[in-house]
Amino acid sequence: MIHVYENYSLLAHNTFGIDVKTARFLEYETVNELRELIQQKQITQPCLHIGGGSNLLFKNDYPGVILHSRITGIEVVEENEEAVYLRVGSGVVWDDFVAYCVARNWYGAENLTDIPGEVGASAVQNIGAYGAEVKDLIVSVDTINLQGEERTYTNAECGFSYRQSIFKQLQNTFVTQVVFKLGKSERFLLDYGTIREELKQYPAVTLAVVREVVRKIRSSKLPDPKEQGNAGSFFMNPVVPRAVFDSLKIQYPAMPHYDVDADRVKIPAGWMIDQCGWKGKAIGAAGVHDKQALVLVNRGGATGEDILRLSAAVQQSVLDKFGIAISPEVKAVG
Ligand code: EPU
Repeated sequence: MIHVYENYSLLAHNTFGIDVKTARFLEYETVNELRELIQQKQITQPCLHIGGGSNLLFKNDYPGVILHSRITGIEVVEENEEAVYLRVGSGVVWDDFVAYCVARNWYGAENLTDIPGEVGASAVQNIGAYGAEVKDLIVSVDTINLQGEERTYTNAECGFSYRQSIFKQLQNTFVTQVVFKLGKSERFLLDYGTIREELKQYPAVTLAVVREVVRKIRSSKLPDPKEQGNAGSFFMNPVVPRAVFDSLKIQYPAMPHYDVDADRVKIPAGWMIDQCGWKGKAIGAAGVHDKQALVLVNRGGATGEDILRLSAAVQQSVLDKFGIAISPEVKAVG
């Protein structure tokens, strides 16, 4: 069924807990219903397609149409001895999909446990955590655009890189379903952060155990949006030329880093923000999380502008201290 709401509150649709409204909110449950909305020209401009609202910051009331997919369903489309291929609706809650795979002993999604959001947005954002990225599971992405043209993008055509995909550039192209490939034989990614350390407390490494460990590590660092509004990492980790890193390393020998390739190094923005003394600090109702400086939080009643004011101050500090410009991962709207 198609749901249409006018002058609709977005409070339940953004994890930052910003209290704004949209002129129109359209929700559809099937690909056919989305086709119908397009044919009937109900999707007028400006329009924004959202997922779980876990990577958005609304600055103002939205003056147009906000679209949301409730396309559900997880369907096995192919299976062999090594792998299973699943077509998943864009409206499926990401972590429900992870739970589904873990319960069936299918490998690949477990490190992405508890990432807020929905399956459609997972492809748009190329979500990642603990050494895994969703691009490594995606086979193809089904879309429809505002002209009603349907296209399936193969993984190679999606232009995936760190927190990036072609779908961020394509205006008015909506993800309807994603096909994933999960492995059937044991294969874990355990070398990121403290995963191996935590695993020592368990008698064996299983998918369920890895899921539990990731959940434990995440909840010790990241605030639960139900308790305190936030959108996970507010900034992306900057990728810099190796020469820049080498000279910073002389001044800051403890600077953590990940090699991207021979010429580029990724530096954790959270570490730099922490070094600037921002952890646990606030400007009004907008705060820097006290356990992970990469996360900005709504301490209660913050507006989008409040969060952006804090974000600008944090960016300036990092630029002043390290000479590195950091950019938001979160998309500001309005
Ligand atoms: N660090 C500090 N202080 C801080 C935060 C981090 O010193 O306040 C240091 C840590 O000690 C560590 C390094 O910085 O040495 C990296 O920190 P962490 O492993 O916590 O990861 P991150 O770079 O801060 C990224 C992702 C997260 C993902 C984690 C784990 C981005 C923008 N963020 O964070 O993704 O969960 O790795 O893989 O790439 C998200 O995108 O919303 C998100 C939470």
